[in-house]
Amino acid sequence: SHHPTICYRPIQPSDLEVLELIHADIFPIRYESEFFQSVVHERDIVSWAAVDRSRPNGHSDELIGFVTARIAMAKEAGIGDLLRYDPSKPDQTLVYILTLGVVETYRNLGIARSLIRQVIKYASSVPTCRAVYLHVISYNIPAIHLYKKMSFKCIRRLQGFYLINGQHYDSFLFVYYVNGG
Ligand code: ACO
Repeated sequence: SHHPTICYRPIQPSDLEVLELIHADIFPIRYESEFFQSVVHERDIVSWAAVDRSRPNGHSDELIGFVTARIAMAKEAGIGDLLRYDPSKPDQTLVYILTLGVVETYRNLGIARSLIRQVIKYASSVPTCRAVYLHVISYNIPAIHLYKKMSFKCIRRLQGFYLINGQHYDSFLFVYYVNGG
C-alpha cells in the first residue's frame, strides 16, 4: 500500500499554479490573483506547505496542503477587546489565519493539525504576538472540530459574515492565545 512521507516547507513561487487550483477546488469563496502573488512572494503573508516526498514522477514537491496567515496589529484588528488590549503596548500583534486546506486524498492524516501547529509555533516566537485567530463558516464541521480539538476558543458567532452566491452565512471566530495573551 501507499505510505506517504509528509514534509513541511515554506510556500514558494513555483507553487503558484497548484496553490490557485487547490483554493478554487476546496473553497466556496474566490480569491484574487493578488492574494496568491502575496502568498508565494511572502508579501505580508506567512505560509507553510505540506508535500508528500513519496510521490513519483516529479510530484514529490507538489503542494498537498497549505496554511496562509497575516500579521495584524491588535489595535486595528477589531478584536482588541478580546485580548484585554493594553494601550501602553501599542505594538501588540495577532496572527490571522486566512486559508487552510488539505487535498481530499490526504485528509484525516493529521496534516491540517501539523500546519496549524506551525502557525502557533511561529506566533509564539513573535514577542509582540498575543493570539492566533480565524473565521470559519458555521457549517464547516471538520474545520470546527479541528480548531476545538486544538484548544482554540470559539468566542463569537458573526451573523451573515460571509456572502456566497447571494446568500449570507454566519461565521465563528476562533482564538488561540499565545505569550500570555
Ligand atoms: N469530521 C470531523 N472532524 C474532523 C474531520 C471530519 N471530516 N476532519 C478533521 N477533523 C478534526 C478531527 O478532530 C481531527 O482530529 P482526530 O483525527 O484526532 O479526530 C482533527 O480535525 C485533525 O484532523 P487532520 O487530519 O489534521 O485534518 P485534515 O488534514 O483532514 O484537514 C481540513 C482538515 C483542513 C478542514 C480539511 O478537511 C479541508 O481541507 N477542508 C476543506 C477546506 C476547509 O474547510 N478549510 C478550513 C476552512 S477555515 C479557514 O481556512 C480559516
